[in-house]
Amino acid sequence: MAPSNLVRTTVRTMSGYAPGEQPAPGERVVKLNTNENPYPPSPRVMEAIQAVDVEMLRRYPHPLADRFRESCARLWSVEANQIIAGNGSDDILTIATRTFVPPGGSIASPDPSYSLYPVLARLEDARHVGVPWLDGFGLPIEALIATRASAIYLANPNAPTGTVVEIAEIAKLARAFAGLVLVDEAYGDFWGQSAVPLVKDFANVVVSRSLSKGYALAGLRFGYGVAQSGVIDEMMKVKDSYNCDAISIVAATAAIEDQAHASRGWENVRLERERMTHHLSELGFKVIPSQANFVLATVPGGDGRRFYEGLRRQGILVRYFDKPGLSDKLRITVGTGQENDALIAGLLTMIEKQQAA
Ligand SMILES: Cc1ncc(COP(=O)(O)O)c(C=O)c1O
Repeated sequence: MAPSNLVRTTVRTMSGYAPGEQPAPGERVVKLNTNENPYPPSPRVMEAIQAVDVEMLRRYPHPLADRFRESCARLWSVEANQIIAGNGSDDILTIATRTFVPPGGSIASPDPSYSLYPVLARLEDARHVGVPWLDGFGLPIEALIATRASAIYLANPNAPTGTVVEIAEIAKLARAFAGLVLVDEAYGDFWGQSAVPLVKDFANVVVSRSLSKGYALAGLRFGYGVAQSGVIDEMMKVKDSYNCDAISIVAATAAIEDQAHASRGWENVRLERERMTHHLSELGFKVIPSQANFVLATVPGGDGRRFYEGLRRQGILVRYFDKPGLSDKLRITVGTGQENDALIAGLLTMIEKQQAA
């Protein structure tokens, strides 16, 4: 424990973000707990990494990751100066918070949502205000605006529910709200729609996207933000000078240039998501319709922890949140067909054992 006068009170008294469990190397588990893509990245990614020259490692990387920005700009039909690259999209969220949320200010987001948002607010000596979703996971526009927050963070698709807010609703929010609307599209590829076109009309919209999920590169750490160029210029002042390393820049560029590979993976995830939803429903789970690469399911009987632990004992990892409104649910990442079959078999074993007892 650090001496109490050494550490900022804010940091000393807060809990950090709790990432999902990562198994030890070589440990054989079915890993459906951190929403990684079940399929490998484009083969062009490894080719790009293998082609990295030692000279590239000796030198600093391009500070703005311009090779990536140019490819990414073509993908979204925007200008390269409308893109900021980050060390994962969490880096974009951190940069946005430091740029737009002053100490003493606040971030509002519909609740439940990504559990990093309160941590980011706290680190800025700002507050986080959770506003309950409307029935059916509708966007509580008026209540969000009434918080008078400095910024509204909206995960779309949302985590951990997998639900989506239509882009027209986000436009309504951006029009009515004076502060930043950050649309966190970490799972956007599995839905197929995006708020990126809104940045043309709204200076207060920043969209963050990730290569961790849709491009199967969670270990690489690469994400980006899209906004009007004047907004990006301000965010550039805040980021670490070299926030993306040379290897990640070439690899991420190769990944987004292979749209055919990535989109085959998105389609497979959608098909497996439907199959998983169907089988879970047959077992008595109530599954919220999801547009992401995971589902949130209420367990039969309502004891989420029991199912989480029972699966854990069988070497199947899923995510359990010991929080009001979530403790009767499991968040399950859509895996390969084989992994999803193992999950369903594991649940069936537990349910049959319980029925026999
Ligand atoms: C809603 C949401 N946003 C952002 C992230 C961060 O993704 P990245 O790996 O790009 O930092 C996650 C990761 O789980 C997430 O669930």
